[in-house]
Amino acid sequence: MSTQAPVRRITAPQITARKGGEPVVSLTSYHAHTAAIVDKYADFILVGDSLGMVMHGMESTVPVPLDLMIMHGRAVVRGTKRALIVVDLPFGTYEESPQVAFRNAAKVMKETGCGAVKLEGGERMAETIRFLVERGIPVMAHIGLTPQSSHTLGGFKTQGRDEDSWPLHEADAKAVAEAGAFAIVVEGMVEPLANRITAAVDIPTIGIGASAQCDGQILVLEDMLGLNPAPPKFVKTYGDLGSQIENAVALYAEDVKTRAFPTDAQVYKVKP
Ligand code: KIV
Repeated sequence: MSTQAPVRRITAPQITARKGGEPVVSLTSYHAHTAAIVDKYADFILVGDSLGMVMHGMESTVPVPLDLMIMHGRAVVRGTKRALIVVDLPFGTYEESPQVAFRNAAKVMKETGCGAVKLEGGERMAETIRFLVERGIPVMAHIGLTPQSSHTLGGFKTQGRDEDSWPLHEADAKAVAEAGAFAIVVEGMVEPLANRITAAVDIPTIGIGASAQCDGQILVLEDMLGLNPAPPKFVKTYGDLGSQIENAVALYAEDVKTRAFPTDAQVYKVKP
């Protein structure tokens, strides 16, 4: 009989309960090994559709298919035991109708074992968020710079530079909160607007390129580790993995070329 109590995963309502309290720590992760490390520190891990660009070299998140999200979502759930796992619904899988969104969100939850999904959009997605939440699917909203709409936004541009646009962004935040979202990612938004939104809604705001006063923060793991040669300007890098990997690969190549492999690495050598 096991004497250890099972580790319970953090739930969406527990994230909501952090509003105005200890800041919520979150990062993206797309694969089991990095997720296992992030799991020790993060309250939730996002399997973001940014994986299309970061892992698969796509130019935007628009081409990301649902099956790819499910594959990476499964890997992250397998690698973790503590954090809430949130999986992004990719472009084209939820905008058409609440019913289509439910079918795809339910597939993601069943096939990955994740605890919530995220979708982009404010007021226009409120009806869908309510439909999913009423049917048992916790939804994280995402407003401000919404990368899936980069074609209509005219690129990856900071939102709210023009004060006249603030009421629209505030209305987006209020609409998704009233619809039942358990938290909102606020991306690429001028700081005073992100602060106003944080004060205006009763669910946590999770900032990325927005404001340190949000109720939590998220970054793309590869950006903060120094693996992205051209990270967004707002990203603080906490590591230099790009150079470390390059140094290690160069040392390895040298060992191979000079036949300097350590003998204990030659386990497959045929014994005389
Ligand atoms: O896809 C993603 O990684 C995201 C984060 C940047 C919030 O949506």
